Amino acid sequence: MIVYLNGDYLDDSDAHISIYDRGFMFGDGVYEVIPVYGGRLFRLGQHLNRLRHSLEAIGMYPPLTDARLTDVFGQLLQGRNGDASVYLQITRGAAPRNHVFPDSQSPTVLAYAQDMHYPDAAQRETGVHAVTLADQRWQRCDIKSVSLLANVLARQYAAEHGAMESFLIRDGYLTEGAASTLFMVREGRLITPPKSHAILPGITRELVIELAALSEVDVEEAEIPEHELDTADEIWLASSTKEILPVTRLNDQPVGSGRPGNLYHQVVRQYDDFKQRFRAGLTA
Ligand code: PDD
Repeated sequence: MIVYLNGDYLDDSDAHISIYDRGFMFGDGVYEVIPVYGGRLFRLGQHLNRLRHSLEAIGMYPPLTDARLTDVFGQLLQGRNGDASVYLQITRGAAPRNHVFPDSQSPTVLAYAQDMHYPDAAQRETGVHAVTLADQRWQRCDIKSVSLLANVLARQYAAEHGAMESFLIRDGYLTEGAASTLFMVREGRLITPPKSHAILPGITRELVIELAALSEVDVEEAEIPEHELDTADEIWLASSTKEILPVTRLNDQPVGSGRPGNLYHQVVRQYDDFKQRFRAGLTA
């Protein structure tokens, strides 16, 4: 597989980074995962804006302009007309190990494209299982940082409990999943936790809100107390790679009817239509 590393396009077996890379030493870096439909980068502007926000929040300048990054992604996607995803990681680069930033920065920039691994049809049709867990992450979850140890442990906990995702709880309120955002349907309203330092501003989350609002669904960005999940009619998770999935069992109990709900079917249809129009070049 061809990867982009610091200006070069290399076979992944020839792509090497220093053992002193601060991404490796400290998890000192940020990343993005961008879906690609029909060879086109989906919501690219939003992903680049979030990248800029993440870099700024960790005191880094963008090492490449948006135009240059877009060009790199285009190179990596050459010959791929189908669906894929692009992974981009930027670290503060290699320097002798010292917590303080090095005087001069030479960031490491890595990017590659890979096939899109969709959730299978059964996961959409019957739903997935999730568990709840204490949110052990730091106070700046709005930064898409590669320091993902707490997220890794939370996903592992889910896997060990036969679930796809862990929904995280901080001070009695839901924040998000280990690698997804969270939606709840209650009494006909779609509710998702508000943007704050406690969650990643998910690009899929934003699109779900846009699409639901278009069809006049009542959408609320509001705190969700832990106990409200027990009486939710529907629960969904959303991310660039999982898209929107219904959660039909939570902590081994059925959610609502135990089947994907009506609102899920409605919004996922809108999402699929939107994607289809995007693939066909009919929408930006
Ligand atoms: N993760 N919250 C967290 C903690 C995430 O890691 C992700 C995505 C999301 C959803 O964001 P978006 O809709 O922009 O993909 C929310 C990516 C897919 C990953 O780490 O692979």
